[in-house]
Amino acid sequence: MGSFETAETAKSRAAELRGILKRSAELYYEKDTPEISDREYDLLFKELQEIEAKYPELITQDSPTHRIGGAPKEGFVKVHHEVPMMSLDNALTREELESFYAKLSQGLGRETCAVTCEPKIDGLAVSLIYENGVFTRGATRGDGTTGEDVTANLRTIRTMPLELDIKTAGTIEVRGEVCIDKKGFAALNAEREEDGEQLFANPRNAAAGSLRQLDPKITARRKLKIFLYQVIEPEKLGIKTQYEMLQWIKAAGLPTQGEETRVSSVGEINKYLDEWSQKRFEHPIDTDGVVVKLDDLSERELLGATAKAPRWAIAYKFPPEEKLTLLKDIEITVGRTGALTPTAILEQVHLSGTTVQRASLHNQDEIDRKDIRIGDMVWVHKAGEIIPEIIKVELDMRPVDTSPYHIPKNCPVCGSMAVRLTGEAAVKCPNKSCPAQIKEAITHFASRRAMNILGLGEKIVSQLVDTKLVKTVADLFFLTEADLVGLERMGEKSAENILASIEASKTRPLGALINAIGIPGVGERTAEELAERFRSISALSDSAVMRSGELEAMDGIGPTMSEAISAFFSEPHNRETIERLVAAGVKTEIGEPAKDKSKLPWAGLKFVLTGELATMPRDEASERISALGGQTVGSVSKKTNYVVVGDSPGSKFLKAKELNIAILDEDAFIKKIDEAEKTVTE
Ligand code: IVH
Repeated sequence: MGSFETAETAKSRAAELRGILKRSAELYYEKDTPEISDREYDLLFKELQEIEAKYPELITQDSPTHRIGGAPKEGFVKVHHEVPMMSLDNALTREELESFYAKLSQGLGRETCAVTCEPKIDGLAVSLIYENGVFTRGATRGDGTTGEDVTANLRTIRTMPLELDIKTAGTIEVRGEVCIDKKGFAALNAEREEDGEQLFANPRNAAAGSLRQLDPKITARRKLKIFLYQVIEPEKLGIKTQYEMLQWIKAAGLPTQGEETRVSSVGEINKYLDEWSQKRFEHPIDTDGVVVKLDDLSERELLGATAKAPRWAIAYKFPPEEKLTLLKDIEITVGRTGALTPTAILEQVHLSGTTVQRASLHNQDEIDRKDIRIGDMVWVHKAGEIIPEIIKVELDMRPVDTSPYHIPKNCPVCGSMAVRLTGEAAVKCPNKSCPAQIKEAITHFASRRAMNILGLGEKIVSQLVDTKLVKTVADLFFLTEADLVGLERMGEKSAENILASIEASKTRPLGALINAIGIPGVGERTAEELAERFRSISALSDSAVMRSGELEAMDGIGPTMSEAISAFFSEPHNRETIERLVAAGVKTEIGEPAKDKSKLPWAGLKFVLTGELATMPRDEASERISALGGQTVGSVSKKTNYVVVGDSPGSKFLKAKELNIAILDEDAFIKKIDEAEKTVTE
């Protein structure tokens, strides 16, 4: 932030800032692909606000300080917000927050006043309309006055109540934030990296990119969450404070963050900030600050709002967690598709709650763009508080003897000459028999969302490949107990369990099998779509080999992916593997009868899930139960063995009590599942 000697220099700086801010806001809000960090944006924004405060004649109609968010995206029905959806002013330091609180109290002519503190969720703002208690319309904020109608997409969010628990007549509008949790963000980016798609810079962009989809099916797969914090026209409901408002929202069955507190002094606000500046690292959702709001709603009216934000609230933004550390080395790993992926090996640093020693560098272009060299001091942070990332090199500290880094010309595992195909970011080892690729392919094949085979950890897969017992994924189905017992540290019981799990995997759904066989660029979601469309591997293979045009005709499958699928099924080596999978009895069509699971530890056990589990999505719970031989059923009966009870359980919980069925809370369930999996894995 500079001091401006003349109105002339201030004018040109203001114009420059407006240009940068406008472009950044477009990338952030409209395209969901930011180029500068949130902190940089906030600092530039503050600088412009300061210039405009000093030289009000410089304020323009379209200044970013007077506009909210971005324009609605083409293709969505536009929604008019009766009460504008405003933004919040930011406090980037504790001093700014303290001065906000002082002004607030003074403005009301008092020494102190009650405020609520809530975590600021890093998501995107939405408005929900309930008519006579039924959800009828949901919209994004857009530019504050006009948003996008995302009703169908919001309906796909699992925790989104379609009906309120409190009887209300007429129209109720509630507002809040849609977001993706840290685990979901990491998984989504991992999938996108595998599919060669552009990564989301942070959870907010991932949530926005997922909600603002014209096809709600895509939104449904993204596992979004929603938290509400505001009711419009609260006086209609007799709500007098922010605190009461949150209680009403909860009572209505709408999800809230549940971490709010009501305080009446700067000291207490600071205490809450101290707590949250640590707690946020363990929190499942990315929070980028704390929102402090005047608690008394009638007093809010007295304070009013600026063009952009109310005067009764402020968003304190946590300073970014960025640290400087040494880049000691760059390690190359060979992935399932043969891609040589560079990983930065860092001098260990403590960052956002954990110790970080590695960060993916993605590919050569990324290394070139940031000019990253071994021996550099680099700034690291965690995208979405979860994925370690190098932001930039500290060039002033670069030692004299460094040189640009190039990914090696040969595969570090098998020595084959690596190639980079035109249009691809990755350098690849072309050798299909490269042990590194086989190991990765098998690990992927066995993974939970693919064939869900338990017990095939890294060490076992490595031995299976190194001893040549397994050369392709099909070989897994021909392993014998004698083969497995011959491996290091493998007991008879573990061998039996692994074989039982391999056997059980034969009945995995077709989508899981298509995902498992590892067609380059085909992730879980495309695999499911292919399964739905073709209904058998042979139909998919025939269509792909004949290049019948059916693949391109599918939504979301472009020429590159369709070519990759055709190439995969045309390769004799892959055709042979699939034939052997069929010969082994693996289900390759939709709708075959289930196979024998009787040898697994939970064979015959019936589970009912009720309520929301905090640490595990329901489909994952069901999959893990099924992998252990158990079954998840919809309703409680005398035949149910266990009822797993999460947050806000339904009537099934009462039924279970009535019938005296064993009840497991989340912790007990996870303990039980971990233990059972261990018996299979050991
Ligand atoms: S209150 C008049 N409370 O942060 C605006 N906003 O940077 C009332 N946000 O536009 C908003 N968590 O999208 C509020 N607990 C919270 C929030 C929150 C996240 C978002 C919201 C807002 C933005 C401002």
